[in-house]
Amino acid sequence: MSVVYYIPTDTCELLVATMSDRGKAKAVHRSEKVSLSAGRTGTEVCNTRTMLEITPSGQACGATVRNVDLRRLDDELVAAIRHAWLDHKVLAFPDQDLSDDDLEAFTLRFGPFGDDPFFASIDGHPNIAAICRRADETSTLFAENWHADWSFQEFPPDGTCLYGKVIPPSGGDTLYADQQAALAAMPHELRVRIEGRSAIHSAGNSYAPDGLYGDGDEGRSMQIRPSESAYETRLHPVIRPHRETGADTLYSTIGYIIGIDGMDADEERDLLVELYHWQTREEFQYRHRWEEGMLTMWDNRCVLHRATGGYDGHDRILHRTTIGYNHDV
Ligand code: SIN
Repeated sequence: MSVVYYIPTDTCELLVATMSDRGKAKAVHRSEKVSLSAGRTGTEVCNTRTMLEITPSGQACGATVRNVDLRRLDDELVAAIRHAWLDHKVLAFPDQDLSDDDLEAFTLRFGPFGDDPFFASIDGHPNIAAICRRADETSTLFAENWHADWSFQEFPPDGTCLYGKVIPPSGGDTLYADQQAALAAMPHELRVRIEGRSAIHSAGNSYAPDGLYGDGDEGRSMQIRPSESAYETRLHPVIRPHRETGADTLYSTIGYIIGIDGMDADEERDLLVELYHWQTREEFQYRHRWEEGMLTMWDNRCVLHRATGGYDGHDRILHRTTIGYNHDV
């Protein structure tokens, strides 16, 4: 029989997974929480083969996961990682030795590949993009504005994986902002202004020929492909339930959001700016420090993220895959 224990402690959570008889996936439910001592006993009794060590960041979201080799995942470990991902929203796995094939295989354990419309892929891997910046590069920082990846798509991606290949000695952190926490703490007066509203999303400001990464963007090492298709628009609710957890969350932010459906221009601009300031308050943030060989996966459905600089004179290279919209969850 399959047994998965989920064991929260003050500073650390242990997810203990045993193999099921038939290797079938088993969801890890909160109802399976057990005490630490019971968990330790469980580990011994169950002759556990694998134990994930999960350390929450202590910030608004995010956790580091150790004691797992992402090249060797069985279905139960995938279920345990998925559970932790939904719980912490951003997971970082240090000390992984992943080839590009491994990165793709890991991604596919969590959903289909997403469609990356404006990135060129790396050679031989159509689903991997290189997020890179040379030591001497002077173009604007890529992804420096808060965003949820590709929120302008009809079926936006569930998540993103990013694997650190060349990491500068300092700087280059990625910031995340927990949008469930931001909504939960939102003042009533602001919430009533967005309740029931839909936002208009578009990639035009970034990826259209006249956008930030458009035809005038010179000297960038990252391979971006601007297109007229970036002007297309799509509506998504400003507040929506997370498709897997059901928790209400704010979705995306000004940038990819260019307006509020049915609202006049002045009102929508003021509202989007006010909303942005609320969504990205420091208390909702997690600052992620990179290491080479670290893989991070985040949940685009409930976090915003942005890149930071501070590493001039050093290269920075990460390989990125997109976990597409999973119609089965
Ligand atoms: C991204 O948004 O995909 C890149 C984030 C980063 O470079 O830190």
